[in-house]
Amino acid sequence: MSSTQSSPNKKQKVDATTTIPTIQGLEDYSFRDGEEITPHGAMPQKKYYRSRAHANPLSFNDNLTYPTKPDDFDWQPYYPELPSSSSAPTVIDIGCGFGGLTVELSTLLPDATVLGLEIRAKVCEYVRLRIMSLRETEKGNYKNAACMRSNTMKNLVNYMHPNSLNKIFICFPDPHFKAKNHRRRIVSYDLLTEYAYCLKPNALLYLITDVKALHEWHLEKTDAHEMFARLSDDAMENDPCVKAMINVTEEGKKVERSGSNKYFMVYRRLPEEEVALETSEFLK
Ligand SMILES: C[S@@+](CC[C@H](N)C(=O)[O-])C[C@H]1O[C@@H](n2cnc3c(N)ncnc32)[C@H](O)[C@@H]1O
Repeated sequence: MSSTQSSPNKKQKVDATTTIPTIQGLEDYSFRDGEEITPHGAMPQKKYYRSRAHANPLSFNDNLTYPTKPDDFDWQPYYPELPSSSSAPTVIDIGCGFGGLTVELSTLLPDATVLGLEIRAKVCEYVRLRIMSLRETEKGNYKNAACMRSNTMKNLVNYMHPNSLNKIFICFPDPHFKAKNHRRRIVSYDLLTEYAYCLKPNALLYLITDVKALHEWHLEKTDAHEMFARLSDDAMENDPCVKAMINVTEEGKKVERSGSNKYFMVYRRLPEEEVALETSEFLK
């Protein structure tokens, strides 16, 4: 499957190295009342890209197309300045919202290829324009950050190779409070199996929320999963990515302003040998 590049305003000179492919389902959201909403390279304004707070990832059938298998997808248009050998994502920010963490990780992890994944089209468009603007104004930077619209509950493994990711971030996910909606949550046994499949051995899964009951759900599900083990408190304390996920996401900042708590945990994806060892201990 190939991706379409955004169509620039004809009057503008567009630098292809700063461009990220358009957001599926939002190819035409460039003008409002005859005015261009965000000229190429400008920083977008959030007010034009807000949308309904929650999307239901289970009934989400917005005709999003996706590759049959990761080999069919070309990441080069998302990271035009990276060598093609390193253009597949190594760090993903699932439900990246307005992209604060995605952008921060780009500079914090300069050797990583960072991808924000977001289901809401306008929100994703905001992140796309935000990164394009940063690439434009700080030439050479942010070339390792991009975003893509996707329902990760359905399509993650269509895009990601097994054993390809160093880090997965799930920050302040939608809590889906009602028991009947718990199956919409982004952490479940089956989804953890997909995350383990995409992560490299010893790679890390970062989870943070301000909802205590959801945090307990995260711990219960991930502790029970044979492919994950908690990282030690020391290791978490020394990880700059933990500080970033606490402090720089848009939701994290909101929680900070309201004075509420943030609950987090980081898990290591166990290598197969360790899982086999634990299973054999268990069977004794
Ligand atoms: C509460 S926001 C948190 C945004 C961001 N991580 C932050 O901390 O500021 C959760 C985000 O996850 C997105 N989301 C929910 N389900 C998703 C899915 N299945 N695939 C991709 N994004 C999803 C929502 O659209 C929303 O933007």
